[in-house]
Amino acid sequence: MKVHPAIIVGKMARLALNFILDKQQITMSQKATARAHANIAFIKYWGNRNEDLRLPDNSSLSMNLDGLYTETTLIWDNAQKINSLVLNDQPQIGQALERVAKHLGNLRKHVPDLPQYATVISKNNFPMGVGIASSASSFAALTVAAISAAGINLPEKTLSSLARLGSGSASRSIPTGFVEWHKGEDHDSSYAESVASPAYWDLVDVIVVVSDSHKKVGSTEGHRSAYTSDLQQGRLAHVDERLKRCKEAVVNRDFTSFAEVVEEDSNLMHSVMMTSRPPLFYWQPESIAVMQEVNIWRQDGLQVCYTLDAGPNVHCICVRKDVNDVIDRLKTLSGILDIRVAGAGSGAYIVESDDVNSQ
Ligand code: DP6
Repeated sequence: MKVHPAIIVGKMARLALNFILDKQQITMSQKATARAHANIAFIKYWGNRNEDLRLPDNSSLSMNLDGLYTETTLIWDNAQKINSLVLNDQPQIGQALERVAKHLGNLRKHVPDLPQYATVISKNNFPMGVGIASSASSFAALTVAAISAAGINLPEKTLSSLARLGSGSASRSIPTGFVEWHKGEDHDSSYAESVASPAYWDLVDVIVVVSDSHKKVGSTEGHRSAYTSDLQQGRLAHVDERLKRCKEAVVNRDFTSFAEVVEEDSNLMHSVMMTSRPPLFYWQPESIAVMQEVNIWRQDGLQVCYTLDAGPNVHCICVRKDVNDVIDRLKTLSGILDIRVAGAGSGAYIVESDDVNSQ
């Protein structure tokens, strides 16, 4: 069959146009979406030796929280000439955008190939500022999305050090499951690594929300005041030993030793907070009531203990078989606004990426 020359030319033109459009899409689209979980510290990070680099006063140990996550899409686009941030569907211009822009600048200091400007769209599936560390999951997801969108592959250790620059606890949301953050000596040696997988020990965090208002003094400001407490040196004196005890308890799935050291470490951190100048009181009457009950329940035979971050909400850590019992008992107490349950979660991961290299 004879084909008219005009049809052939038309077909070729269409092919050429598609090729150009494809090419443009590949070079223009440097986009990735990453997800990272919140984490709860069993041995706490409180105080920095170097605030700029977020080199902490002590090493810490935590568990990632399954089901509580931040999902962040980052699109590198130099044509924009400005960074932009949409957080939980709200465009941001103030402090939140500044902190994200600063982090992207810090990333660029260590990874010079990164482009200049980005659009960041981030969503948490849990409320912010109520004692569930949103900065941890946010900066872990942001770091992984930023690096991946640029088509760069970095080892987990490097990603953890980079996430630390945005928020110290974010370093612990990069590796999976139960995680130790080594305080280190400098940027490269301060990173987190997994101690055990999420499946290793079926621990559950029953988060008791007693306040849903945003905390008045955030962690970053709190870290700055840690050294003003006479008790910070005392807290630090035996923190390595507590971390060792806690890690062994996790490795041996020894709940009795675990509960003892986790509560001791949380109480020590809050003693420092309360004796800082000016003092930081995060506990509310309802927080104390839950802590006291948890101790009574443990004497009754339930495998449960408490820990609190920089907020009034209480994280009741228990073994899976006792979860329903713990929740039923919590429901008999007054002043509890909400109860959230999270098991051990994975590390940060890429949900989607259209970077040049992954095409
Ligand atoms: C009490 O990591 O939130 O939750 O580095 O300033 O972002 P920045 O602080 P952040 O501090 C967490 C403090 C804590 C204890 C912990 O998670 O180890």
